Amino acid sequence: MLADSTFTADSDSVLELSRLSKTFRVGFWARQVPAVRDVSLVMRRGESLGYLGPNGSGKTTSIKCLLALIAPSSGTARIFGRPTSDPLARARIGYLPESPYFYDYLTPSEVLDYVGKLYGLDAATRKQRSRLLLGLVGLDLDAKRPLRGFSKGMLQRVGIAQSLVADPDLLIWDEPLSGLDPMGRKEIRELMAELRRQGKSLFFSSHVLTDIEALCDAVCILDRGEAVAQGKLSELLAKDALESEAVLDLPTDPAPAITALQAIASALVTTTASGLRVVLPTASIGHLCKITLDNQLSLREISPRRDSLEELFLRKALATRVDGPGAGGAA
Ligand SMILES: Nc1ncnc2c1ncn2[C@@H]1O[C@H](COP(=O)(O)OP(=O)(O)OP(=O)(O)O)[C@@H](O)[C@H]1O
Ligand SMILES: [Mg+2]
Repeated sequence: MLADSTFTADSDSVLELSRLSKTFRVGFWARQVPAVRDVSLVMRRGESLGYLGPNGSGKTTSIKCLLALIAPSSGTARIFGRPTSDPLARARIGYLPESPYFYDYLTPSEVLDYVGKLYGLDAATRKQRSRLLLGLVGLDLDAKRPLRGFSKGMLQRVGIAQSLVADPDLLIWDEPLSGLDPMGRKEIRELMAELRRQGKSLFFSSHVLTDIEALCDAVCILDRGEAVAQGKLSELLAKDALESEAVLDLPTDPAPAITALQAIASALVTTTASGLRVVLPTASIGHLCKITLDNQLSLREISPRRDSLEELFLRKALATRVDGPGAGGAA
């Protein structure tokens, strides 16, 4: 478990896990399957937090604990500073389950109306919310069709719409982008961005890391039930920016320039269609500038090399597998 200032509890927290662990007992011999191990995090109002990890890493299990659908083996989960079973806290949550299931003889309008009734909304509000939300998720033309004819992605859209019926402050979405086609992913990403602009707090899980980078302020990366990295995305990705990348205009005779640049310790020089690309230790930028001046080269751009979220995940996951705290894990 990594300590990080982003996850220090304060009065602004909308969601809090404190040393949460869940172990399932399966089979006749009650074999223990540790699904979540000692996860702590705090999410603040208006924040968007990506809960990431590969299949079987414990995302859905943690979310079920957050919603009091299952009881943790140890540790606690709180929503808006209250126990997760408290109706006052639950009334402010919009939940999208991992595989939303609806009675298939209902239409999307009927599902949303039903959910609106559960939240105690009056008929006019239910009608207005239903129309608005089905338009938002691109189902306005299918609003009156029974769900039995719906594809997986269409059901996912109904699931997203129903989670928004009561205009909740906190959205807990388990794999919101799963089952959607590229256009659907784009639309839901845009919807998530809009919800963020409206100041909603968004907690969502995913194992598709590339979808996530643009959507969250902070991440918690799980591997085999354990939080292997967490904090603000920008800080996590920049933390190890010890390398930089420079691009220089390709000189008419590149050979002397390449020889000079290769003299920089640990530099990797490649020739591309657009110029000379040099990946070098950030500490050697001074050396690069000197070579540029001495050889009358033209330096076009220089930037720190950041991990992608994918690289960060692989590095963190591999580190724990080598160190071994989660060895023999849940997956
Ligand atoms: N009801 C259950 N009984 C026994 N084991 C379970 C149960 N639910 C989950 N597990 C186990 O807990 C671990 C974590 O599962 P979980 O569904 O939380 O993973 P996940 O991160 O949501 O995966 P995915 O990306 O596939 O949705 C897995 O090893 C799984 O087999
Ligand atoms: Mg899951």
